[in-house]
Amino acid sequence: MPLRLSILGLALLPSSFALVSRDGHTGRLPAMGWNSWNEYECAINETVFLTVGELLVSLGLKDLGYNHVNIDDCWSDKVKKRDNVTGKILPDYTKFPQGIKHTADEIHKLGLKLGIYGDAGSLTCGGFAGSLGHEELDAKTWAEWGIDYLKYDNCNVPDEWDDDYRWWPENWLGGPPAEDQTAGGDGEAKPVPAPAGYDWTTSKSFDRYKIMGDALLASNRTIEYSQCAWGHARIDEWGDSTGHSWRMWGDIYPIWSGKFQWSWGLMPILNHASFFYNSSNFWGHADFDMLEVGNGNLTLEESRSHFALWAALKSPLIIGTPLDGIKPEILKILSNKDLIAFNQDPVVGEPAKPYKWGVNPNFTWNQTHPAEYWSGKSSKGVHVFALNTLDTTQKKTIDFSEVPGLDARTKYIVYDSWTGKKQGVFKKKYEARVKSHDTLAIRIVKEDGSRPY
Ligand SMILES: *[C@@H]1O[C@H](CO)[C@@H](O)[C@H](O)[C@H]1NC(C)=O
Ligand SMILES: *[C@@H]1O[C@H](CO)[C@@H](O)[C@H](O)[C@H]1NC(C)=O
Ligand SMILES: *[C@@H]1O[C@H](CO)[C@@H](O)[C@H](O)[C@H]1NC(C)=O
Ligand SMILES: *[C@@H]1O[C@H](CO)[C@@H](O)[C@H](O)[C@H]1NC(C)=O
Ligand SMILES: *[C@@H]1O[C@H](CO)[C@@H](O)[C@H](O)[C@H]1NC(C)=O
Ligand SMILES: *[C@@H]1O[C@H](CO)[C@@H](O)[C@H](O)[C@H]1NC(C)=O
Ligand SMILES: *[C@@H]1O[C@H](CO)[C@@H](O)[C@H](O)[C@H]1NC(C)=O
Repeated sequence: MPLRLSILGLALLPSSFALVSRDGHTGRLPAMGWNSWNEYECAINETVFLTVGELLVSLGLKDLGYNHVNIDDCWSDKVKKRDNVTGKILPDYTKFPQGIKHTADEIHKLGLKLGIYGDAGSLTCGGFAGSLGHEELDAKTWAEWGIDYLKYDNCNVPDEWDDDYRWWPENWLGGPPAEDQTAGGDGEAKPVPAPAGYDWTTSKSFDRYKIMGDALLASNRTIEYSQCAWGHARIDEWGDSTGHSWRMWGDIYPIWSGKFQWSWGLMPILNHASFFYNSSNFWGHADFDMLEVGNGNLTLEESRSHFALWAALKSPLIIGTPLDGIKPEILKILSNKDLIAFNQDPVVGEPAKPYKWGVNPNFTWNQTHPAEYWSGKSSKGVHVFALNTLDTTQKKTIDFSEVPGLDARTKYIVYDSWTGKKQGVFKKKYEARVKSHDTLAIRIVKEDGSRPY
């Protein structure tokens, strides 16, 4: 059954204001960098991060914009948790023998930024010290250490901080109509759906994330704020007023479709993005989770699609694969200049949006075959992305009359974003064969080289 957005009653009100950093640039564009979780989980130590820092530089990734080295969960002392005098979170000195400030200093020497991880609950997802109730002290501590980026997770929220109403996109089975938001769940009492027109900035999730955002602002250091609230409590409606990015969904996993434990393959996440793409713009970015490019059993085509579409969505581009021994073909995907330029465009803030679903009728909620045809404007032209969700090679036709900003009368030059090569001059349509699970990525300009729109 195709789902019409108009029946969903989801008029997305733009936030009253986006959070503009004092320094005039931090968080304006999607963050780029590397994070330890997807590959190492808790098996981290200072060497991992210093090695990554050096490799970001030597592999040319820093020059392409990947400037964050982000520590995920498991960096602190799991037993003692906090200093019993100062109350500050204690680093795990086995993993970070000279403390986190030392790691930050070393990362800064490379011209890179260091990120850390915290949790808006009593404990992190891994059972380490959480920051709920300690926001000011923790923000100040991280600022003193020289931290530049905080990923703030959503585990172990005490009962008294539970939201009155539930908006948990991951639990939707048949799509986003209101009654389905109660489906699935974590075994707790069945939550109550929000009344029509409910203002989610009155939710306790909003409070938990805003308190840390305010503490970071008060901390005397510009710290980019990545709110890892899994799309809960309609954070897509208010996340740009409290931080720089907000997770839209649960955790990612390196599989094409389906789910492994609590983590999701690429297609269910893209299906959600096919409906919820309106909130990203300068200073605030919907985060579809860190990149699994190069990980697990993803084929080369699947890694290409993952990168192209996450870049198109203007999701933060946070690499999650080891850089030592990285395969040249994976490095090439992560280094794609045309796709990075779209993601980081200084002039156009909006992400690409679906203009046609493809194998399914428009607006079909389908976790294996989401929207296939996406387009977006940039300062360098109109970009079109055509994903092949089927199991065999398909001919994909880009019908210019369907693409916002293009028409059937004008002749256009088409560039292939994967090779950078000019494909020729085309009128009415462009066609290409696309392998199973690969994505055609093209950039379109007028014959004189100017932007078509
Ligand atoms: C996104 O914006 C479009 C165009 O304004 C609108 O039709 C659609 O309903 C919006 N989607 C959501 C999920 O709010
Ligand atoms: C640091 O962690 C990496 C990755 O888990 C591991 O291979 C390495 O042995 C560790 N080094 C030290 C000194 O613990
Ligand atoms: C505080 O921690 C230190 C070091 O772990 C320990 O020696 C001391 O006994 C603790 N003090 C209290 C009051 O718990
Ligand atoms: C803020 O940071 C600056 C330099 O980074 C320092 O000189 C100043 O003392 C700090 N202020 C406070 C209140 O910590
Ligand atoms: C990859 O495939 C192998 C063999 O089928 C399987 O054992 C492994 O769990 C898969 N990895 C992931 C991340 O799905
Ligand atoms: C889907 O959207 C495209 C682009 O607007 C349009 O050309 C096409 O007719 C739509 N298809 C359906 C079934 O609504
Ligand atoms: C998703 O779409 C595919 C392609 O049309 C279809 O075969 C499949 O049955 C759909 N899945 C569901 C759950 O409707």
